[in-house]
Amino acid sequence: MKDLPKLELHLHLEGAAPPAFICGLAAEKHVDISGVFDEGGHYSYTDFWHFLKVYEAATSVLQTPEDYRRLTLAVLEESAAHGVIYTESFISPDFCGGRDLAAWRDYLAAIEDAAAEAQAKMGITLRAIVTPIRHFGPEKAREVAICAAETAGRFVTGFGIAGDEKVLDPKDYLWSFDCAREAGLGITAHAGEWRGPEHIRATLAALNPSRIGHGVRAIEDLALVDELAERGTVLEVCPGSNIALGLYPDWRKHPIGQLFDRGVKVTVSTDDPPFFHTTMSREWDRLADALDWDQGVFETLNRTALDAAFCDPETKDKIAKKLEPRA
Ligand code: HPA
Ligand code: ZN
Repeated sequence: MKDLPKLELHLHLEGAAPPAFICGLAAEKHVDISGVFDEGGHYSYTDFWHFLKVYEAATSVLQTPEDYRRLTLAVLEESAAHGVIYTESFISPDFCGGRDLAAWRDYLAAIEDAAAEAQAKMGITLRAIVTPIRHFGPEKAREVAICAAETAGRFVTGFGIAGDEKVLDPKDYLWSFDCAREAGLGITAHAGEWRGPEHIRATLAALNPSRIGHGVRAIEDLALVDELAERGTVLEVCPGSNIALGLYPDWRKHPIGQLFDRGVKVTVSTDDPPFFHTTMSREWDRLADALDWDQGVFETLNRTALDAAFCDPETKDKIAKKLEPRA
């Protein structure tokens, strides 16, 4: 599986930071990150809400555009090593410059610089989805949306929302999503991970996203599953993340197979790979084992991801060529 080309649509940039990278930067900067790692050097957390806190603590070592340039390279190296040829990553002005537009532009330039280097050296393409943090509230999300709209283009191609799904409601973020949509950005939103089907319905009604982050709890309402299939809404499913966080007990009990069989457009991503002890090749390996998925299914996942990607048509053509079987 490792060598097969893969597309990934749902990856939090800071959440993909290799532990050694965060430890190294913390030492360089003399930042206290006690509590972030366990004795084995792995990210350490008890549940999703604690995970969010540990995530923010680890992110506190990332303080300059240069830090993000190095982070982006480290993350893309890891993704490329697992066969990823195209990835969309959530990037947040909350962490990159405190929502100040001029500072955000500097962070973005550094991230883009790393992306260009990774493209040239490793053949992996990165695009950015600008993402407010839900539990920081709608006012800050507006500032994030303005940063996104002002920098929308070839690299910044999408807008989403991450953070604590249980806080507030999708309609509270309508202004931000309208702002991003008017700037031409693709729309996705985390929903249906920590709240059930009704939150997916509310997200569809308020924000009309073409993609949903996770969305797996749609399985608790088969009428909603059919509606997702009919609408062609693409789910960014992260099975290893769901299992690591205790949403499902094991790979066989994960609903991705049922969603796929019922006609929902599903894709597979890692979310925050080192936090969840996963990689894209591990996701594919485990799904092949648990669900008996053959190569044809994984090719379908790639094609679904390519269709749903937020990048421009020329980039899609280039990625499509890389997916063609070699003679
Ligand atoms: N889910 C929601 N919010 C997040 C995540 C995640 O996996 N990672 C960072 N913020
Ligand atoms: Zn996520």
